[in-house]
Amino acid sequence: MEIVIIGAGVVGLATGWRAAAAGAAVTLVDPDPGGGASSVAAGMLTPVSEVTYGEEPLLRLGLASRDRYGAFVAELEELTGLETAYRTDGILQVAFDSDDLTYLDDLRRFQESLGIAAEALTGRECRKAEPMLAPGVRGGLLAPEDGSIDPRRLTAALLTAAEKAGARLVRRRAAGVAVENDAAAGVRLDDGTVVRADRVLLAAGPWSGDLAGLPPGAVPPVRPVKGQVMRLRTRVPFLTRATRGLVKGSSVYLVPRADGEIVLGATQEELGFDTRVTAGGLWELLRDARELLPGITELEFAEVSAGLRPGSPDNAPVMGPSALPGLFVGTGHFRNGVLLTPVSADILSAMLLDGPVPDVAGHFSPDRFSAEVHSR
Ligand code: GLY
Repeated sequence: MEIVIIGAGVVGLATGWRAAAAGAAVTLVDPDPGGGASSVAAGMLTPVSEVTYGEEPLLRLGLASRDRYGAFVAELEELTGLETAYRTDGILQVAFDSDDLTYLDDLRRFQESLGIAAEALTGRECRKAEPMLAPGVRGGLLAPEDGSIDPRRLTAALLTAAEKAGARLVRRRAAGVAVENDAAAGVRLDDGTVVRADRVLLAAGPWSGDLAGLPPGAVPPVRPVKGQVMRLRTRVPFLTRATRGLVKGSSVYLVPRADGEIVLGATQEELGFDTRVTAGGLWELLRDARELLPGITELEFAEVSAGLRPGSPDNAPVMGPSALPGLFVGTGHFRNGVLLTPVSADILSAMLLDGPVPDVAGHFSPDRFSAEVHSR
């Protein structure tokens, strides 16, 4: 089986690794492997805190992926000798004012109704857990089983693993899908050459909807949702675990790493394919973060970046065979790409190789957006 994967972000790389390890001849096409949203993401592994009412299938997918993470990382690190900064010391969500606290209470009830453990903390208990939190923090929720990973290290390890398993990397832009006899026959590169394949996986994040050669029914409904992120550094203990805050209804998060990096994110902007870092975006991040952690302004500045999340109409990934025979889709991971990497790789590699697909994949097929489904 010859498979070509368009897009070497975390999902494309992990799927390529799994498919190559299972014996397929895999080619990954990407001008800048790991250079998209995967290199900007903070890497919180928190299935619960970004899910809202009506998104229970997404929550189940997130939990299935979080459950796979430990073994996935152990295998990856053992195979490559590379560290991924994977941590499972929980995530703290805190509320700044009483409306934020009401939201967190609602979230806790929602979590409880789904049988998910989260511990409610008072403001004082939050500060005991994280002494740098502002005195005004009203309360919080500790999700003890959540964690984080460094997506840049994860990408580097996945790239090494995929190449070790025999995957070939083509550092070029995919211009379109080559179609023969009404089926995908490979990928046309920007220099006009065609990489032929039995099956093509479209895992190009928000660019997945932009490829030439696809019949309209096969184009995944994804759009770019910009996120600006700041990287800071500390030499003294500042934050022990990933912390997400709600500040007057606005959400901000900080993800600390053992090497002193603290990732502060993220804006959510509908501006098309715009990756400019703006003064307003950074001000918004710092404004909210300073309300929660006043000492943040003392930290050393390291980097700013902006990435494009692949958003779908229902915030959930789009994974499965498309309307064009031979073309599969693996995109739409929106705010959850890093979390959903292990389960997406299992689902997509099984689909590409006609293996048994995990049950949890059922809800995420591209055909849920077809005209037929909408007209019901
Ligand atoms: N999951 C974090 C974000 O998308 O900003």
